[in-house]
Amino acid sequence: MNTFTINIALLVTVIASLIHVANCASDIYVAHTQRISSVQFQPPIIEHYLDTVNAKSIIYCVAACNKHDLCRTCDYDSSTKQCRLFESLGSTGTLIPSIHTSSVFILNYCLQKTNNYDLSTIYSEPDYLCTPALPGQSMTVYDAFQKLILANNNVLLPLAERDVYMSSNGFYTSSSDSSAIRHYGYNGQLITAYAYSSSLSCINYNPKINTFIVCPYSIPRLETQLFNPNTSTTMPQQSISTVGNPFYSYYDTNRLYISYRSYASPITIHSISGTKLFTADSQSTGSFTPFTLWQSQLVFGTGNSIFLFNLNGTYQSSWSYNFSSVVSLIGFIQHDYAGRRYFNDYNTNPSNKGVYIYNQNSTFYTVLNRACVWTCAIKITKRNITLVSLQSPTSSLYYYNF
Ligand SMILES: *[C@@H]1O[C@H](CO)[C@@H](O)[C@H](O)[C@H]1NC(C)=O
Ligand SMILES: *[C@@H]1O[C@H](CO)[C@@H](O)[C@H](O)[C@H]1NC(C)=O
Ligand SMILES: *[C@@H]1O[C@H](CO)[C@@H](O)[C@H](O)[C@H]1NC(C)=O
Ligand SMILES: *[C@@H]1O[C@H](CO)[C@@H](O)[C@H](O)[C@H]1NC(C)=O
Ligand SMILES: *[C@@H]1O[C@H](CO)[C@@H](O)[C@H](O)[C@H]1NC(C)=O
Repeated sequence: MNTFTINIALLVTVIASLIHVANCASDIYVAHTQRISSVQFQPPIIEHYLDTVNAKSIIYCVAACNKHDLCRTCDYDSSTKQCRLFESLGSTGTLIPSIHTSSVFILNYCLQKTNNYDLSTIYSEPDYLCTPALPGQSMTVYDAFQKLILANNNVLLPLAERDVYMSSNGFYTSSSDSSAIRHYGYNGQLITAYAYSSSLSCINYNPKINTFIVCPYSIPRLETQLFNPNTSTTMPQQSISTVGNPFYSYYDTNRLYISYRSYASPITIHSISGTKLFTADSQSTGSFTPFTLWQSQLVFGTGNSIFLFNLNGTYQSSWSYNFSSVVSLIGFIQHDYAGRRYFNDYNTNPSNKGVYIYNQNSTFYTVLNRACVWTCAIKITKRNITLVSLQSPTSSLYYYNF
């Protein structure tokens, strides 16, 4: 059950309004904005928090969100004038009751071209992708990814075959060659290379405390690091011993989640300072198994199934993929701003080739039949779709500009 729907029904203070924002610098388009009063927004995943800005009034807050390449939901407190920007669609997050001066604004870019002011649109996310770059034109998920394939825009990247972290200001890659962690823009341009003298598997970022976490490939520990872009160096913060060599980790404001490279342990759940709080149920034991968080669940992918756990590691349910042939490892699991879920066959058996796209409630959309060997990641901004595909000896970024 979606908390968002429940809260909307309870609050009955939904005001649908048409807000057009004028800005001389660029063409700005808001299809329609829904306002929900006396609530704050909690995104489904911490990466979807983008920024906090000061705004003179509601309209400036909505304008700031509309102008941001990733923002689709914002909340505003008129007593503090603080405007928080989020990447997620309003429907994927949770509305938390708050003081009366606080409101959530949901920007919706889905519209029929011929009837711009009709709020009863037939197109909606996540079945369609809607972007202000193509006002009023909505693409099906299939069409959008076909365009990415047909565009065939390929930027080659140096070796990076272990992990990629898609942030709000570009992406970070890790590799086996003990050379560097690299930060790129979503155009494939290198922004900074941070020298890092160990072979790495995971890389993850906690935006609230501007700290990165990395998993050394051959050592049973996690390292947290402050990155200093001014000097292209990293500064060690913590070193956390683990029960085995970590494969993947997820770092949020309160917790640290770790899966293991061999069958050392189920996922372990730690406080931010590293103290182990829980060991998840045995279904989360695996080797080279990626996982992610989404809403209030931990989503863990083995070769057969996706297993869902609560955030304390208690097993809840599972569902099976429909790959054509047997898969031993999943390369990545990811959700986008609309909760569309992506994963692939790490070994890229030809009959399973590509990125499989489902929605968060397991409805199958399409297969992105584009090279995704080993690990991939996808970012959809208001301007383009980017697919980063990690391989050896060279990785690639593919993009399609709307
Ligand atoms: C894709 O969009 C992002 C921002 O939305 C931009 O920074 C990047 O340059 C774009 N990529 C390309 C290849 O144009
Ligand atoms: C990097 O330089 C900028 C501009 O001088 C400064 O504001 C920022 O604090 C510096 N960052 C670090 C981590 O030193
Ligand atoms: C998770 O654990 C904490 C601390 O033991 C507990 O307060 C909380 O209710 C648990 N949550 C769930 C969903 O089990
Ligand atoms: C997965 O299921 C969808 C929907 O039933 C179907 O269209 C698709 O072809 C299936 N894929 C495979 C590889 O069986
Ligand atoms: C799953 O999501 C789709 C939208 O992508 C929606 O049409 C469908 O009703 C949902 N199914 C359930 C059971 O919630």
